[in-house]
Amino acid sequence: MPHPDLALPRLIAHRGLSARAPENTLAAVRAAHDAGISWVELDVQLLGDDTPVIWHDRDLKRCSDGRGRLADLTLAQVQHLDAGGWFDPAFAGEPLATLEEMLVLLAALGMGANLELKVNRGHAPQALAEVVVPRVLDALPPERCLLSSFDATALAHCRRLGRGEALALGLLFDRVPRDWERRCRALEAFSVHAKWKRLSEARARAIKGAGLALVCYTANDPASFAPRWDWGVDAVISDDPGVFNVAGPGG
Ligand code: G3P
Ligand code: MG
Repeated sequence: MPHPDLALPRLIAHRGLSARAPENTLAAVRAAHDAGISWVELDVQLLGDDTPVIWHDRDLKRCSDGRGRLADLTLAQVQHLDAGGWFDPAFAGEPLATLEEMLVLLAALGMGANLELKVNRGHAPQALAEVVVPRVLDALPPERCLLSSFDATALAHCRRLGRGEALALGLLFDRVPRDWERRCRALEAFSVHAKWKRLSEARARAIKGAGLALVCYTANDPASFAPRWDWGVDAVISDDPGVFNVAGPGG
């Protein structure tokens, strides 16, 4: 499969270290790094002017002092927003990060990133892939980057745009469907990303038996999660990875 020699850590910080810092910000990535976490999961979507930004929601309301849908806004309209004060006054003034700003930080810190492509209503999956893939390939070594999405079409465009380079792709599911293997093979996927509470042991073992990596999201209760390590789960995405006590890189 066309993916690099990518060794996922056991623990990945969800939206950065989102339990301790405002999600999907530069501060959340620095917090993960300071906590000894080597990989972060971050959401990427496009503004109305096609600028890729690190943001989860379709609109600005929950995580900033702004209003409006991202697909209707330009960089000039969002770059002075406060994306940190909602979380804690100590983070007031934290900016909304562009993908390029985030990639510079990740590269400087030597961190790995699971970038989740969020296709919003303003854009086609292809448009998001065309913006994200070249920037990521230029900024991060392939063994420190994993692109994931619920949108298989976006991932298919990522595969096509990968210029033949090693590019690890992960297909995201809520409950992993019966035809998961066909869908993953079509993308030459590296990994399956499953909602942890909806993953069965049989499906986990089948995914591992097929040679794919298995990532679970978003788990914050290590005791409840624990049996899944024996099922072969490779990595867990957590808001607060420090609550897990697991051995291994990034753990
Ligand atoms: O990538 C795993 C997880 O982040 C997917 O769900 O809504 O938190 O982006 P969400
Ligand atoms: Mg996400």
